[in-house]
Amino acid sequence: MMETVLITGAARRLGRLIAEDLAKDGCHVWVHYLTHEEEARQLCLEIRKNGGQADRVRADLADIDQIDRMLADIQNSEHGCLTALINNASVFPRGTIRQTAPDAWDRTMNINLKAVWYLSSRFAELFPTAGQIITIGDAGTGNLMPGHAVYALSKHALKFLTEQMAEAFAPAIRVNLLSPGLVLRGEGEPEEIWKKRREKSLLNNDAIADSVLDGIRFLMKNPGITGSELIVDNGSRFGTKLK
Ligand SMILES: NC(=O)c1ccc[n+]([C@@H]2O[C@H](COP(=O)([O-])OP(=O)(O)OC[C@H]3O[C@@H](n4cnc5c(N)ncnc54)[C@H](OP(=O)(O)O)[C@@H]3O)[C@@H](O)[C@H]2O)c1
Repeated sequence: MMETVLITGAARRLGRLIAEDLAKDGCHVWVHYLTHEEEARQLCLEIRKNGGQADRVRADLADIDQIDRMLADIQNSEHGCLTALINNASVFPRGTIRQTAPDAWDRTMNINLKAVWYLSSRFAELFPTAGQIITIGDAGTGNLMPGHAVYALSKHALKFLTEQMAEAFAPAIRVNLLSPGLVLRGEGEPEEIWKKRREKSLLNNDAIADSVLDGIRFLMKNPGITGSELIVDNGSRFGTKLK
């Protein structure tokens, strides 16, 4: 069966790589974006030029009404029957737990955690025979990540949310968490610091992005896995303490 996959935050960076990879594998991809409309448009054009299938859709995931509108737009379109959801969109604010303002707490939790719950739940309701949900976590949140405290909290909670949703949506829908580590340099992060952080990983595998994409393919194809976390991080969680 051809998969029809909604990938959130897919206009650029890791989400874009996931969209390109799944399109190459023959999936119809829905490229969700918020601010990077032109990148999303170009990505869909490129995928189609290479023989694949792609559409784009916009929503602010911090706003539940916009999530509902996005799903209605998808449902009312030609390729409206989703078979998979990849929750990739996220915000990565800086700040220790002492520095975090209530607004930053709300925004981070809304996008990184509440939107994953709400979008996944609506997906399960609207497409009850759909195959699966994969959420992108973060292997680093096995540590405290004190410089990104609320981000770490939100991502840490995804493991429990994944287990709860796996139980609630079974047997029709499998729900898993893929937790990468140090895949792409943070925007504005100096190359030197990025290199130093990468050097602390246990493995010297430069093709970590490809390993993440392999991990997604593995989870998508394996009918026996639900409620699990797959960590694909070069072992960086053992050596890195992100400050
Ligand atoms: N990069 C890494 O090395 C790394 C390591 C570990 C885990 N991860 C996880 O992997 C995923 C992708 O990482 P990344 O670095 O590629 O992510 P990113 O660039 O920080 O963000 C991905 C996308 O999220 C979207 N987004 C943010 N706020 C949104 C909102 N309110 N509504 C809708 N979309 C919103 C943005 O879309 P627009 O650009 O269209 O606004 C953005 O392009 C994230 O879940 C991240 O936590 C990444």
